[in-house]
Amino acid sequence: MSGERLKQAVGSAAGRIDSLAVEDAIRGRQSIRAYLEKPVPRDVITRVLATAGRAPSGSNIQPWKVWVVEGKPLAELTAEILATYDTSGEGTREYNYYPVTWREPYLARRRACGWGLYSTMGITREDKAGMHAQRRQNFNFFGAPMGLVFTIDRDMETGSWLDCGMFIQTVMIACRQFGLETCPQAAFANFQEIIRRRFAIPDGEMVICGMAIGYPDPAAKVNSFRTEREPVENYVRFVE
Ligand SMILES: Cc1cc2nc3c(=O)[nH]c(=O)nc-3n(C[C@H](O)[C@H](O)[C@H](O)COP(=O)(O)O)c2cc1C
Repeated sequence: MSGERLKQAVGSAAGRIDSLAVEDAIRGRQSIRAYLEKPVPRDVITRVLATAGRAPSGSNIQPWKVWVVEGKPLAELTAEILATYDTSGEGTREYNYYPVTWREPYLARRRACGWGLYSTMGITREDKAGMHAQRRQNFNFFGAPMGLVFTIDRDMETGSWLDCGMFIQTVMIACRQFGLETCPQAAFANFQEIIRRRFAIPDGEMVICGMAIGYPDPAAKVNSFRTEREPVENYVRFVE
Protein backbone atom coordinates (compact mmCIF):
# COMPACT_ATOMS: atom_id res chain seq x y z
CA MET A 1 0.00 0.00 0.00
CA SER A 2 1.41 3.40 -0.95
CA GLY A 3 2.04 6.08 1.68
CA GLU A 4 -0.91 8.17 0.42
CA ARG A 5 -3.31 5.20 0.43
CA LEU A 6 -2.12 4.24 3.90
CA LYS A 7 -2.92 7.76 5.11
CA GLN A 8 -6.42 7.64 3.61
CA ALA A 9 -7.09 4.25 5.23
CA VAL A 10 -6.22 5.64 8.65
CA GLY A 11 -8.87 8.32 8.24
CA SER A 12 -11.74 6.05 7.16
CA ALA A 13 -12.47 2.47 8.05
CA ALA A 14 -15.77 0.78 7.36
CA GLY A 15 -17.60 -1.57 9.72
CA ARG A 16 -16.78 0.38 12.86
CA ILE A 17 -18.76 -0.40 16.03
CA ASP A 18 -19.31 2.83 17.93
CA SER A 19 -20.77 1.50 21.16
CA LEU A 20 -17.94 -0.61 22.56
CA ALA A 21 -16.92 0.55 26.05
CA VAL A 22 -13.25 0.15 26.92
CA GLU A 23 -14.06 -2.29 29.73
CA ASP A 24 -16.21 -4.42 27.42
CA ALA A 25 -13.53 -4.35 24.73
CA ILE A 26 -10.98 -5.67 27.22
CA ARG A 27 -13.18 -8.13 29.10
CA GLY A 28 -14.79 -9.49 25.94
CA ARG A 29 -11.50 -10.32 24.23
CA GLN A 30 -10.58 -13.97 24.11
CA SER A 31 -8.20 -15.96 21.97
CA ILE A 32 -10.12 -17.05 18.89
CA ARG A 33 -9.05 -20.26 17.19
CA ALA A 34 -11.54 -20.59 14.30
CA TYR A 35 -12.46 -17.91 11.77
CA LEU A 36 -14.90 -17.18 8.97
CA GLU A 37 -13.48 -16.99 5.45
CA LYS A 38 -14.40 -13.31 5.20
CA PRO A 39 -11.28 -11.24 4.41
CA VAL A 40 -10.06 -8.38 6.60
CA PRO A 41 -10.20 -5.12 4.63
CA ARG A 42 -6.83 -3.41 4.29
CA ASP A 43 -8.16 -0.06 5.42
CA VAL A 44 -9.46 -1.67 8.61
CA ILE A 45 -6.19 -3.40 9.56
CA THR A 46 -4.28 -0.24 8.66
CA ARG A 47 -6.53 1.76 10.94
CA VAL A 48 -6.14 -0.80 13.76
CA LEU A 49 -2.34 -0.73 13.47
CA ALA A 50 -2.30 3.07 13.38
CA THR A 51 -4.42 3.11 16.56
CA ALA A 52 -2.12 0.57 18.21
CA GLY A 53 0.80 2.79 17.28
CA ARG A 54 -0.54 5.18 19.93
CA ALA A 55 0.61 2.65 22.55
CA PRO A 56 3.14 4.11 24.98
CA SER A 57 6.83 3.23 24.93
CA GLY A 58 9.74 4.36 27.06
CA SER A 59 11.02 7.68 25.68
CA ASN A 60 8.55 7.13 22.83
CA ILE A 61 11.05 4.99 20.90
CA GLN A 62 8.26 2.79 19.43
CA PRO A 63 10.35 -0.38 18.98
CA TRP A 64 7.59 -2.52 17.39
CA LYS A 65 7.50 -3.68 13.77
CA VAL A 66 4.62 -5.60 12.17
CA TRP A 67 4.45 -7.77 9.06
CA VAL A 68 0.95 -8.34 7.64
CA VAL A 69 0.29 -11.43 5.53
CA GLU A 70 -2.81 -12.67 3.72
CA GLY A 71 -3.82 -14.46 0.50
CA LYS A 72 -1.13 -16.30 -1.46
CA PRO A 73 1.88 -15.38 0.72
CA LEU A 74 -0.07 -16.56 3.78
CA ALA A 75 -0.99 -19.85 2.11
CA GLU A 76 2.63 -20.41 1.02
CA LEU A 77 4.02 -19.57 4.44
CA THR A 78 1.65 -21.85 6.30
CA ALA A 79 2.20 -24.69 3.78
CA GLU A 80 5.96 -24.57 4.39
CA ILE A 81 5.65 -24.31 8.17
CA LEU A 82 3.09 -27.13 8.33
CA ALA A 83 5.28 -29.37 6.15
CA THR A 84 8.27 -28.65 8.41
CA TYR A 85 6.18 -29.24 11.55
CA ASP A 86 4.95 -32.57 10.17
CA THR A 87 8.42 -33.82 9.27
CA SER A 88 10.75 -32.24 11.85
CA GLY A 89 8.45 -31.10 14.66
CA GLU A 90 8.72 -27.71 16.32
CA GLY A 91 11.76 -25.58 15.76
CA THR A 92 13.30 -23.54 18.55
CA ARG A 93 12.59 -20.01 19.69
CA GLU A 94 15.35 -17.46 19.84
CA TYR A 95 14.17 -16.31 23.23
CA ASN A 96 12.71 -17.96 26.34
CA TYR A 97 9.06 -17.12 26.56
CA TYR A 98 8.46 -19.41 29.52
CA PRO A 99 10.42 -20.22 32.68
CA VAL A 100 13.18 -22.72 32.00
CA THR A 101 12.04 -24.63 35.11
CA TRP A 102 8.31 -24.63 35.70
CA ARG A 103 6.99 -24.16 39.23
CA GLU A 104 3.74 -23.38 40.99
CA PRO A 105 1.50 -21.48 40.67
CA TYR A 106 2.40 -21.11 36.99
CA LEU A 107 2.54 -24.80 36.16
CA ALA A 108 -1.03 -25.41 37.40
CA ARG A 109 -2.33 -22.41 35.45
CA ARG A 110 -0.58 -23.55 32.31
CA ARG A 111 -2.02 -27.06 32.68
CA ALA A 112 -5.52 -25.71 33.31
CA CYS A 113 -5.25 -23.67 30.11
CA GLY A 114 -3.98 -26.57 27.98
CA TRP A 115 -6.39 -29.17 29.32
CA GLY A 116 -9.27 -26.72 29.19
CA LEU A 117 -8.72 -26.19 25.49
CA TYR A 118 -8.30 -29.89 24.76
CA SER A 119 -11.36 -30.94 26.77
CA THR A 120 -13.47 -28.31 24.99
CA MET A 121 -12.47 -30.13 21.82
CA GLY A 122 -13.19 -33.58 23.32
CA ILE A 123 -9.47 -34.44 23.25
CA THR A 124 -8.48 -36.75 26.12
CA ARG A 125 -5.08 -36.97 27.84
CA GLU A 126 -4.35 -40.22 26.01
CA ASP A 127 -5.20 -38.77 22.61
CA LYS A 128 -1.74 -37.63 21.49
CA ALA A 129 -2.81 -37.45 17.85
CA GLY A 130 -5.73 -35.19 18.78
CA MET A 131 -3.44 -32.86 20.73
CA HIS A 132 -0.97 -32.78 17.87
CA ALA A 133 -3.75 -31.94 15.39
CA GLN A 134 -5.03 -29.11 17.61
CA ARG A 135 -1.52 -27.71 18.14
CA ARG A 136 -0.94 -27.98 14.37
CA GLN A 137 -3.78 -25.53 13.75
CA ASN A 138 -1.49 -22.80 15.08
CA PHE A 139 0.60 -22.98 11.95
CA ASN A 140 -2.40 -22.36 9.77
CA PHE A 141 -3.22 -19.18 11.77
CA PHE A 142 -6.25 -21.21 12.92
CA GLY A 143 -7.78 -20.62 9.47
CA ALA A 144 -7.69 -16.82 9.84
CA PRO A 145 -7.63 -14.83 6.58
CA MET A 146 -4.86 -12.60 7.91
CA GLY A 147 -1.76 -13.11 10.00
CA LEU A 148 0.54 -10.66 11.71
CA VAL A 149 4.15 -11.20 12.69
CA PHE A 150 5.71 -8.90 15.28
CA THR A 151 9.45 -8.31 15.21
CA ILE A 152 11.90 -6.28 17.25
CA ASP A 153 15.48 -5.18 16.58
CA ARG A 154 17.80 -7.67 18.25
CA ASP A 155 19.80 -5.00 20.04
CA MET A 156 16.75 -3.73 21.94
CA GLU A 157 16.63 -4.44 25.68
CA THR A 158 13.95 -5.83 28.00
CA GLY A 159 12.15 -2.47 28.26
CA SER A 160 11.46 -2.50 24.53
CA TRP A 161 9.94 -5.98 24.81
CA LEU A 162 7.60 -4.50 27.41
CA ASP A 163 6.70 -1.76 24.94
CA CYS A 164 6.03 -4.36 22.23
CA GLY A 165 3.72 -6.26 24.59
CA MET A 166 1.68 -3.11 25.08
CA PHE A 167 1.52 -2.58 21.36
CA ILE A 168 0.41 -6.17 20.75
CA GLN A 169 -2.37 -5.96 23.36
CA THR A 170 -3.50 -2.65 21.87
CA VAL A 171 -3.76 -4.30 18.44
CA MET A 172 -6.02 -6.99 19.92
CA ILE A 173 -8.28 -4.48 21.65
CA ALA A 174 -8.41 -2.08 18.68
CA CYS A 175 -9.46 -4.99 16.44
CA ARG A 176 -12.64 -5.43 18.46
CA GLN A 177 -13.94 -2.03 17.39
CA PHE A 178 -14.36 -3.59 13.92
CA GLY A 179 -15.75 -6.98 14.96
CA LEU A 180 -12.35 -8.57 14.45
CA GLU A 181 -10.88 -11.07 16.92
CA THR A 182 -7.38 -12.39 17.37
CA CYS A 183 -5.12 -15.06 18.81
CA PRO A 184 -1.57 -14.07 19.72
CA GLN A 185 0.77 -16.90 18.72
CA ALA A 186 4.22 -17.38 20.19
CA ALA A 187 4.17 -20.71 18.31
CA PHE A 188 5.32 -18.88 15.19
CA ALA A 189 8.55 -17.79 16.86
CA ASN A 190 9.60 -21.45 16.58
CA PHE A 191 9.64 -21.08 12.81
CA GLN A 192 11.32 -17.70 12.64
CA GLU A 193 13.87 -18.85 10.03
CA ILE A 194 11.13 -19.68 7.52
CA ILE A 195 9.26 -16.45 8.28
CA ARG A 196 12.40 -14.33 8.01
CA ARG A 197 13.35 -15.84 4.65
CA ARG A 198 9.85 -15.52 3.16
CA PHE A 199 9.21 -11.95 4.32
CA ALA A 200 12.83 -10.83 3.75
CA ILE A 201 13.02 -9.73 7.38
CA PRO A 202 16.44 -8.19 8.04
CA ASP A 203 18.90 -10.30 10.10
CA GLY A 204 18.89 -7.60 12.75
CA GLU A 205 15.26 -8.33 13.65
CA MET A 206 13.89 -11.13 15.81
CA VAL A 207 10.41 -12.64 15.54
CA ILE A 208 8.52 -12.07 18.81
CA CYS A 209 5.26 -13.79 17.91
CA GLY A 210 2.54 -14.13 15.31
CA MET A 211 -1.15 -13.31 15.53
CA ALA A 212 -4.23 -14.66 13.79
CA ILE A 213 -6.78 -11.97 12.89
CA GLY A 214 -10.24 -12.31 11.43
CA TYR A 215 -13.98 -12.53 12.02
CA PRO A 216 -14.72 -15.27 14.57
CA ASP A 217 -16.65 -18.39 13.60
CA PRO A 218 -19.49 -18.38 16.15
CA ALA A 219 -20.35 -22.02 15.42
CA ALA A 220 -16.86 -23.39 16.13
CA LYS A 221 -16.64 -25.38 19.37
CA VAL A 222 -13.06 -24.23 19.99
CA ASN A 223 -14.25 -20.64 20.35
CA SER A 224 -16.47 -21.57 23.30
CA PHE A 225 -13.37 -22.13 25.45
CA ARG A 226 -13.05 -19.45 28.16
CA THR A 227 -10.00 -19.11 30.36
CA GLU A 228 -10.27 -18.25 34.06
CA ARG A 229 -8.44 -15.46 35.86
CA GLU A 230 -7.22 -15.13 39.41
CA PRO A 231 -9.44 -12.93 41.58
CA VAL A 232 -8.01 -9.42 41.80
CA GLU A 233 -7.19 -9.76 45.50
CA ASN A 234 -4.74 -12.57 44.67
CA TYR A 235 -2.42 -10.31 42.70
CA VAL A 236 -3.01 -6.83 44.10
CA ARG A 237 -1.78 -5.38 47.37
CA PHE A 238 -2.71 -1.92 48.54
CA VAL A 239 0.24 -0.56 50.45
CA GLU A 240 -1.04 1.07 53.66
C1 LIG B 1 2.35 -13.52 23.68
C2 LIG B 1 1.33 -14.62 23.63
C3 LIG B 1 1.57 -15.76 22.90
C4 LIG B 1 0.60 -16.75 22.78
N1 LIG B 1 0.84 -17.83 21.97
C5 LIG B 1 -0.14 -18.72 21.73
C6 LIG B 1 0.06 -19.75 20.78
O1 LIG B 1 1.13 -19.91 20.19
N2 LIG B 1 -0.99 -20.58 20.52
C7 LIG B 1 -2.20 -20.44 21.14
O2 LIG B 1 -3.11 -21.22 20.84
N3 LIG B 1 -2.41 -19.47 22.05
C8 LIG B 1 -1.41 -18.60 22.35
N4 LIG B 1 -1.62 -17.57 23.24
C9 LIG B 1 -2.95 -17.41 23.84
C10 LIG B 1 -2.99 -17.76 25.32
O3 LIG B 1 -3.05 -19.14 25.50
C11 LIG B 1 -4.21 -17.04 25.90
O4 LIG B 1 -4.06 -15.66 25.81
C12 LIG B 1 -4.45 -17.40 27.38
O5 LIG B 1 -4.72 -18.77 27.54
C13 LIG B 1 -5.62 -16.59 27.94
O6 LIG B 1 -6.80 -16.85 27.18
P1 LIG B 1 -7.60 -15.70 26.42
O7 LIG B 1 -6.64 -15.04 25.47
O8 LIG B 1 -8.71 -16.41 25.70
O9 LIG B 1 -8.08 -14.73 27.45
C14 LIG B 1 -0.64 -16.62 23.44
C15 LIG B 1 -0.86 -15.48 24.24
C16 LIG B 1 0.10 -14.50 24.34
C17 LIG B 1 -0.18 -13.28 25.16
